[in-house]
Amino acid sequence: MERPTEPYLVPTTERRLHAPHGRRATDARSHVREGVTGCRIVELPRVTDPRGNLTFIEAGQQIPFRFDRVYYLYDVPGGESRGGHAHRQLEQLVIAASGSFDVIVDDGVNRERFFLNRSYYGLHIPRMVWRELDDFSSGSVCLVIASDPYEEADYYRDYAEFAADAAAERGEAAA
Ligand code: TYD
Repeated sequence: MERPTEPYLVPTTERRLHAPHGRRATDARSHVREGVTGCRIVELPRVTDPRGNLTFIEAGQQIPFRFDRVYYLYDVPGGESRGGHAHRQLEQLVIAASGSFDVIVDDGVNRERFFLNRSYYGLHIPRMVWRELDDFSSGSVCLVIASDPYEEADYYRDYAEFAADAAAERGEAAA
C-alpha cells in the first residue's frame, strides 16, 4: 500500500450519512492514525447541525469490537493522572467527550503518547497495552467504551508483571 503523505493518517472508508430533516451530515470518512503499539485513532461519524453536533457509535460498526460497558472519568483535578494498568483481554475506545487529555500507551516494547481533544475521535486500545492518562484540561470528560464488564481479575496493576507476560506472548524468554 502506498504510504500516506501524512504519517499514519489513512483514509479507510467513505460513506454518506443519512441526514433527515435537511440537516447536513458529514462524510463518515474514517481516518485511522495507527501507532507503534497497535493503538490507533478512529474518526467517528459526525452529524453536524446548527443546534449542536451529534456523534454515534454502533456495536461492530465504528469500532472493531462489541461492547458491554460504558464508563467515564470526570472532575479530574489538575495534575492528576489515571490509569496505570493493562488488561489481559479487555479492549477499549477512549474518547475526549469534553476537553482534552493525553493517553500514554505501552505494549511492553514501544511507548507513545496520544493527545485527545475532539469528541469525534476515539483511541482504540487493544488488549495487553499498558495505559496512563494525564494532562486533563479543566472540565474534561473521558468516555470509555469497553468490550467487557468490569472484572478486577482482568487487570495488570503491576507493570513488571505485565511486561513479563507481554514478552512471553511475543515469544521472548524471561529475563
Ligand atoms: P480503575 O479502572 O482502576 O481506574 P484507574 O486505573 O484510573 O484508577 O478504576 C478505579 C476503581 O473504580 C476500581 O477500584 C474499581 C472501580 N470501577 C468499577 O467498579 N467499575 C468500572 O467499570 C471501572 C472502570 C472501575
